[in-house]
Amino acid sequence: MTGKGADVSVGGKTIELPTRSGTIGPDVIDIGTLYKNTGTFTYDPGFTSTASCESKITYIDGDEGVLLHRGYPIEQLAEHGDFLEVCYLLLYGDLPTKAQKDDFDHRVTHHTMVHEQMSRFFTGFRRDAHPMAVMCGCVGALSAFYHDSTDITDPHQRMVASLRMIAKMPTIAAMAYKYHIGQPFVYPKNDLDYASNFLRMCFAVPCEEYVVNPVLSRAMDRIFILHADHEQNASTSTVRLAGSSGANPFACIAAGIACLWGPAHGGANEAALNMLAEIGSVDRIPEYVARAKDKNDPFRLMGFGHRVYKNYDPRARIMQKTTHEVLGELGIKDDPMLEVAMELERIALTDEYFIEKKLYPNIDFYSGITLKALGFPTTMFTVLFALARTVGWIAQWNEMIEDPEQRIGRPRQLYIGEPKRDYTPVSKR
Ligand code: SDX
Repeated sequence: MTGKGADVSVGGKTIELPTRSGTIGPDVIDIGTLYKNTGTFTYDPGFTSTASCESKITYIDGDEGVLLHRGYPIEQLAEHGDFLEVCYLLLYGDLPTKAQKDDFDHRVTHHTMVHEQMSRFFTGFRRDAHPMAVMCGCVGALSAFYHDSTDITDPHQRMVASLRMIAKMPTIAAMAYKYHIGQPFVYPKNDLDYASNFLRMCFAVPCEEYVVNPVLSRAMDRIFILHADHEQNASTSTVRLAGSSGANPFACIAAGIACLWGPAHGGANEAALNMLAEIGSVDRIPEYVARAKDKNDPFRLMGFGHRVYKNYDPRARIMQKTTHEVLGELGIKDDPMLEVAMELERIALTDEYFIEKKLYPNIDFYSGITLKALGFPTTMFTVLFALARTVGWIAQWNEMIEDPEQRIGRPRQLYIGEPKRDYTPVSKR
């Protein structure tokens, strides 16, 4: 919807730029003609005030701590839905009917196997390779196997590639884990639900039957829901930018995995658990809180703060509840890391510095404790984040391609380098 215009004065010249209003959330000023009319760029290196696209998929209100997927609050989806239902919602825009859900679940279930030659990729990696390095390599390599679904102009091929990735990410993630620990790969089983299938592919061994714990698989499924999509975060923006050049979907998702790996983004769950382990005990928390506040110390409290949430991350609340459910089911009473986490959260939420800067726990703060309790090593935490976020990346990628305003993303810059100068021969330097 077009709103009232915005007057912009540059160098004594005033132009009116069009504005647009969404259904909810801030309006935008369309600056597409700014450079042509004023010879001036805007400057926003962290994109703190920049909308990169129109989207109908996810809405976040950082001040209110609200997260909606196609209008549905994350709390309701996490409570009542399952991950594949949320995948359907993100991809198609509405919750599925029973028949649509059964069909979608069946299609995903019957695409969980990977090409048998994929298993040879793993032997090329050192055993101690970080599973995220393996994921980047293997997902990018999927485009070498699926030439029949890389024509991005064909909606059918896009949906085939989308379903393949949602279906195969758990299998590849489990293979990365099994390779990492030197155990044989476990094939998917079509009579298991998505989360149960994943847990079994990770933790089953040939020597005995693996019985899925329904409390743990429900927790795993809910963790996937909480990580499914999150508006235009760094990795999603990476996927959109890669996709804007026409790159195939597998290569775009591999780019998203690479971006997610950073500790400021999806790597924070691994970093948060390593931080809790380093703190070790409640009495050492003040030392680390002081370091986090020290301008001269690069240390930050991993799992705290967020570019958008200036209130409690709604996912963190659900994550905290899931943590207690999992620890309760496993009979883990006094987990020292949980004790440190709870006390660190209490201190941070009452500390003037964190209150003033609106630094609240984010989803990564509790997810690590839960994933560790489920049996995953810290190196697998971001892999699980990537597994779940694949549907968000795919949905946003599809939306970008279908957007009539879509063009290759090509930002400009503020040049602060040397003005033109002539080459001097080395004899004169
Ligand atoms: C995810 O975007 C998304 O939606 C991401 C995500 C998703 O689902 O895709 O939600 C997933 O990435 C969650 C965030 C996980 N990252 C961490 O937990 C790492 C620790 N957090 C910080 O690195 C930081 O808070 C960011 C990266 C999350 C946000 O950085 P911003 O928005 O650029 O904020 P900033 O770095 O400018 O910080 C603002 C101020 C600074 O102080 P001043 O320079 O103003 O004095 O707050 C301070 C920062 O020093 N600050 C922290 C802090 N985070 C910010 N101080 C101590 N500890 C922290 N964790």
